[in-house]
Amino acid sequence: MVVRKAVIPAAGLGTRVLPVTKALPKEMLPIVDKPAIQYIVEEAVAAGIRDILIITNRGKGLIEDHFDHAVELEQRLAAAGRDAALAELNRITGLANIYYIRQKETKGLGHAVAAARAFVGDEPFAVLYGDDVIIGDDPAIGQLCRAWEKYGKGVAGIKEVTPEQILKYSSLAVSPIEDNIYAVTDMIEKPAPDKVLSLFSILGRCVLPPAIFDILDRTPPGAGGEIQLTDAMKTLTLREGMTGVDFTGKRYDMGSKIGILQATCEVALAHLEVGEAFREYLKGLAERL
Ligand code: UTP
Repeated sequence: MVVRKAVIPAAGLGTRVLPVTKALPKEMLPIVDKPAIQYIVEEAVAAGIRDILIITNRGKGLIEDHFDHAVELEQRLAAAGRDAALAELNRITGLANIYYIRQKETKGLGHAVAAARAFVGDEPFAVLYGDDVIIGDDPAIGQLCRAWEKYGKGVAGIKEVTPEQILKYSSLAVSPIEDNIYAVTDMIEKPAPDKVLSLFSILGRCVLPPAIFDILDRTPPGAGGEIQLTDAMKTLTLREGMTGVDFTGKRYDMGSKIGILQATCEVALAHLEVGEAFREYLKGLAERL
C-alpha cells in the first residue's frame, strides 16, 4: 500500500534551545528565509504526500498562520506589483492539505504520534520529526516510502552517529540487506554505555503501519519519563522486524544550537540570492579566526 499520509510531531517544548523557544516554536526557527517546518512539509510533498497532520500544542499558532493565507499582506504585495513574492506566498499556502491536532500534555514523541490515530486510520503513514530538517536531492521520506513498498515492513531512517551522540539518541541492532538498506532486529532509546547495540540511530524519519497505535496505547513511559516512539517501534521490531534506510541527504538537528547554526550556514552558502555574498563574508571572517 502506498504511503499517502504524513504526521509531523511539533509539540515539544524545545528546552535545549531556550530562551528563543520560550515564545517561538523551534519548528518556526528560520533557516535563512524559511521556517524549519516548511522544509519538512516540502520534503513530504516532494515524496508525493499531500495529506499532512501537524501535531501542535499551546503557543504553536504561528505554524498554522505560516501555512494559511495572509490576506492583508497578499493584497499589499499585489498592489505593489510584487508578483514573485506573492506567488511564493500562494505556493506555500497551496503546498498540501495540512491538518492540525493538539497534544494536550507534553508526554513524549510516542504520545504525540498516538494523537494521529483518527487521521491515519487503517493505512501506513510517514512520520517526520518537526525539528529534523533533511536537505537532499532525493527526499529522505520518499526513500523510506520506497522501502516500505518493497519490503512491506515499518521503516526507520537511520544514520551512524558518534559514540557520544548514541547515548542521547536511539541505538539499533542491524544487519545489511542491500546497499544502504538494513534489517533492524532490535533497538533501545538513550542506551547506557554497555547497552549500545550499534552506532546506527533513528534520525528523524520513519514509516509505520497502523498497528503502531495499539502498541503505543500499551507502551509505558520510558527514558525521561516520556512515552517514547522508539519503545513502541522496538515492540513492532521484535514482533515483525523493521527495515532501516541509511538515507541520503544532510540532516540538521534544529532542536540544538549547533544544528541551527550548521543549517543556517550551509543553506545560506547554497542560496541563490545571498550565497555568493555570504561566501565572501565567511572567507573574510575565517581569515580572522
Ligand atoms: P525532542 O525530544 O527533540 O523535542 O522531540 P523536545 O521535547 O522539544 O526537546 P528538548 O529536549 O526539550 O529540547 C523530537 C520531536 O518530537 C516532538 C518535538 O516537537 C520534536 O519535533 N515532540 C516531542 C512532541 O511533539 N511532543 C512531545 O511530547 C515531545
